[in-house]
Amino acid sequence: MSQPLSGAEQGKFSAAKAATTFVKDGMKVGLGTGSTAAWLVRHLAEMVRNDGLRIQAAATSLQTATLAGELGIKIQSLDEIGWLDVTIDGADEFDGQLNLLKGGGGALLREKIVAFASDQMIVIADVTKDVASLGKFPLPVEVLPFGMQSSGILIERALLDLGYQTAKPVLRERDGSVFVTDEGNHIFDLHLDTVIDPEMLSQTLNGIPGVVENGLFLNLCDTVIIGFEDGSTETRRFEDGAMATSRADNIANLFSNVGD
Ligand code: A5P
Repeated sequence: MSQPLSGAEQGKFSAAKAATTFVKDGMKVGLGTGSTAAWLVRHLAEMVRNDGLRIQAAATSLQTATLAGELGIKIQSLDEIGWLDVTIDGADEFDGQLNLLKGGGGALLREKIVAFASDQMIVIADVTKDVASLGKFPLPVEVLPFGMQSSGILIERALLDLGYQTAKPVLRERDGSVFVTDEGNHIFDLHLDTVIDPEMLSQTLNGIPGVVENGLFLNLCDTVIIGFEDGSTETRRFEDGAMATSRADNIANLFSNVGD
């Protein structure tokens, strides 16, 4: 690399690099969205270019599809590929059960569809995403444009019923306009502080007319790779129902110029 990476960026870089060891020749791979997933795309593109890695890839957002295309990874639609061996994505938070809160980048709907259509979901993250319980990061809820204000009112009422006293849904904006997802929908961000019962909350939100999906990814992720500032990584993985943890030293040093 020509420029040293900042601490968090080094962690993302290293986690993404470690995740590439799960990608084998001929695999069908789901590519996540966000700054950590962008490192994965860069690493994989280098493997395609330099090592002749052959993969079939589906993207979880237009943003990722564009980056992958620019770097020489051919993107196919999920329907063209059918089913994926693995999806590798970032997260805004993960807890001790590898439950996730996602959607900070607004791609939660496609991310969830792609992850569910995969044999395995691997999350890559820097250590700041590791939380005792989900919810400090605002929980995104994607809603249809039609009647979205009513959906917002119903979301607020449902949250009050569940005991969230101060959780007013905030309609996401970007550059002064209402944010629009890749599917043409909008997002309410829920400032919950702590998610008390993730299953109940997820089911309740998804039961509201107009709600398309929420950013809780529960019982889906089997492996989290955490990248640290010094370039080392920790992999947490459910094996036979128990959590297995392994550490690896600075693999980023084995790697040279992917960020150039
Ligand atoms: C995108 O919608 C999100 O789910 C991202 O996966 C999440 O926001 C993580 O992004 P970073 O890797 O940029 O932190």
